[in-house]
Amino acid sequence: MPAHGLLPCKPNATNNKYYLKPASSQAMQLCKFSRDTTRRCRVTSMGAMAAATAVLTRETKDEKEQEEGWTEYLSPDKLEVLEHLEPWAANHVLPLLKPAEVAWQPSDMLPDPAALGDDGFHSACRELRARAAGVPDAHLVCLVGNMITEEALPTYQSVPNRFEAVRDLTGADDTSWARWIRGWSAEENRHGDVLSRYMYLSGRVDMLQVDRTVHRLIASGMAMNAARSPYHGFIYVAFQERATAVSHGNTARHVGAHGDDVLARICGAIMADEKRHEAAYTRIVGKLFEVVPNDAVRALGYMMRHRITMPAALMTDGRDDDLYKHYSAAAQQTGVYTASDYRAILEHLIRQWRVEELAVGLSGEGRRARDYVCGLPQKIRRMEEKAHDRAAQARKKPTSVPFSWIFDRPVSVILP
Ligand SMILES: [Fe+2]
Ligand SMILES: [Fe+2]
Repeated sequence: MPAHGLLPCKPNATNNKYYLKPASSQAMQLCKFSRDTTRRCRVTSMGAMAAATAVLTRETKDEKEQEEGWTEYLSPDKLEVLEHLEPWAANHVLPLLKPAEVAWQPSDMLPDPAALGDDGFHSACRELRARAAGVPDAHLVCLVGNMITEEALPTYQSVPNRFEAVRDLTGADDTSWARWIRGWSAEENRHGDVLSRYMYLSGRVDMLQVDRTVHRLIASGMAMNAARSPYHGFIYVAFQERATAVSHGNTARHVGAHGDDVLARICGAIMADEKRHEAAYTRIVGKLFEVVPNDAVRALGYMMRHRITMPAALMTDGRDDDLYKHYSAAAQQTGVYTASDYRAILEHLIRQWRVEELAVGLSGEGRRARDYVCGLPQKIRRMEEKAHDRAAQARKKPTSVPFSWIFDRPVSVILP
């Protein structure tokens, strides 16, 4: 699931009086939430990404009411829908998992000391290091950021286990939903593992700094809007899985172009997993759109108004107060994950869920949510164009940012 993206600066799931300040400090910071009708994120954000989402910041009376209305999704009639879909999930979601015997494993991708022997292993490691040496630092930082995000898996497994009606109540439930959550987590577990081992062997990364960043990120957790609603939650994860697939896919392309074809294969294998996960979550939400379109589109409207906040936004290495901002700027600049990707994902999901075609069974609120969501990509596109002009000017004066993950080597990034 994990990926980059947009900074969280909307109300917390349970307390809409506050919003999260972007990762400009070492810990989650809660800031007073202005009730101005034209409020904007008052904090520094990431150039194009922030600009693309600034359009989401206008708040009307209707939106405020919606903001507070997500808890109605915890009512028995809404949750019953998920309970009734449990047999459907067995046939349409669980088959998207790959069992351990079939799935690739980190050990498939890495030199095996037991099989190669001392000389063979050292020789394979030398080759690995020679290939990895060609990956530019800016791409390496993105790769490490992706890896750290993946490594905070304990946080992500707890996400669907907060969704009412689908969570794994005993830890070993036999429902389709619970089996999916565990199987999905098991697949995700390989992503951080393989990248971490590869990075360790490459010798290009300060693993102690990376390990500490992972430790802190898991300890910090992540904040999510409407955290207990399966409707909102599945929408969030569907978006995230696609964002992650985009990010790993772009990384695969870049590192391959710089000569590390093994690392490219690893990132490509991760991307393929993310795409399967995306297919599963998109299918679940698609079913909700089919069965209860009004509830589904209102949940989508809510999530997009509040933005898809990113799981690793609270990362810190204990040195750089703006680590996430710098990492995100590197992702934007290298093209690993950009504001355009955010818009493209939204456009894709609108098509997948045929949101524009929704009409029957929609309430006034449902129609407003549909219209808002369908108009959003165009608004984001206009903001992208403005941000692009600003970025063109800023490109004249990039900032050199040292990353502790790569022994404080500086990476040139364009900051907003
Ligand atoms: Fe995933
Ligand atoms: Fe993943």
